Amino acid sequence: MQLSYVMVKPDGVQRNLVGEVISRMEKRGLKILALKMYTIPEETARAHYAEHEGKPFFQSLLDFITSGPSVSIVVQGKNAVSVIRTMVGATNPSEAAAGTIRGEFGLDTGRNIVHASDSTESANREISIHFSESEISQYLRIDEQWLYE
Ligand code: RTP
Ligand code: MG
Repeated sequence: MQLSYVMVKPDGVQRNLVGEVISRMEKRGLKILALKMYTIPEETARAHYAEHEGKPFFQSLLDFITSGPSVSIVVQGKNAVSVIRTMVGATNPSEAAAGTIRGEFGLDTGRNIVHASDSTESANREISIHFSESEISQYLRIDEQWLYE
C-alpha cells in the first residue's frame, strides 16, 4: 500500500485547519501512520524543498515553512500519492478546484496550507527527512475490510 508525506504548513496551523485536513484524509479511508507537530529547522526545510533551490521563491518558501509549527503526517492508502494530490488541489489556491483543500481554504500560492508528496520516490525521501522508523506505526484499521475489496 502506497505511502505519502503530508504537511499542514504553518499557515494551516495558524488558521486552525489541522483538524480539517486530517479529517478529510481519515474520512477518505487513508490511514495515518505517523503524526507530529514541530517547527522545521532551516536545514531540514532546505532538504525537504531541495528541488526548488535556486528558484526566485526559494528563500521566501524557506522563511515561511520554518516560521512556526507545522504538522507532519505519514499517510497510507491505495494510490495515496495521487489521491492526496487531487484532494490538495493546484499549487495556486486561486486556481485550485472547488472542493479541494487549497480550493476551499486558500487564495495565495505562498500560503497554500498543505504540502503533499508528488511521487512515491518523493514520499520515501520526505518521510525519511521528517521521521525516524520508530515514529511510524503499523496497525490494522477496523474499517479496512469495508474500504478495500
Ligand atoms: P508543495 O510541494 O508545497 O506540496 O507544493 P506543490 O507541489 O503544489 O508546488 P511546488 O511546485 O512543489 O512548489 C513548492 C511550494 O513553493 C511555493 N511556490 N511559490 N511564487 C511561486 O511561483 C511559487 N511557486 C511555488 C508554494 O508555496 C509551493 O507550495
Ligand atoms: Mg511540491
